[in-house]
Amino acid sequence: AEVMETAEQKQDGLLKLADIVASCQRCEKLADSRRQTVFGVGNPDAEIMFIGEAPGADEDRQGEPFVGAAGQLLNKIIEACGLRRDEIYICNILRCRPPGNRNPLPQEVANCREFLDGQIKIVNPTHIVCWGTVAAQNLLQVTESVGRLRGQFLQHGDARVLCTYHPSYLLRNPSAKKQVWDDMKLFMKDRGVDLG
Ligand code: URA
Repeated sequence: AEVMETAEQKQDGLLKLADIVASCQRCEKLADSRRQTVFGVGNPDAEIMFIGEAPGADEDRQGEPFVGAAGQLLNKIIEACGLRRDEIYICNILRCRPPGNRNPLPQEVANCREFLDGQIKIVNPTHIVCWGTVAAQNLLQVTESVGRLRGQFLQHGDARVLCTYHPSYLLRNPSAKKQVWDDMKLFMKDRGVDLG
């Protein structure tokens, strides 16, 4: 039977996992090209987990997810939802930057899955947002694009999952911001917060 973990135990578990990830060599190319791994950041005891695709150049430099241009937009979305970044747990499908920000390869996603599953198991969020098609398809093991998966709650283990467009997509297609806002209103309503 599962035993409740304290926030301190969760923090400890995440630190141990991050330590393993920091020297990971499972993907030879990514291990050679990265400056550092990008494990995840935020509240180890968060009810809300955000899952993105993979680190970009800024994240690879700073060692933290969503700190570049997409991250700045994500921060605006977080603020509009009445949330604080430090109450959420944020990570990615991959913990290394793919060269030139190419899409993750299936083998890379498979190699990194143990770490994602470990983070989900430790944090044990009630709610997850998958940002973009790569996050949605790989977390849920489905083939539909985010355009078809968005706008509804899906289930992953004990967590309710909302998929929506990636902030990087919004930077190129600002008109999709309305749909993301609709998705986030649905997400927050499920958490008892009415954003109108
Ligand atoms: N895009 C992502 O999907 N994740 C990051 O951490 C940064 C940009």
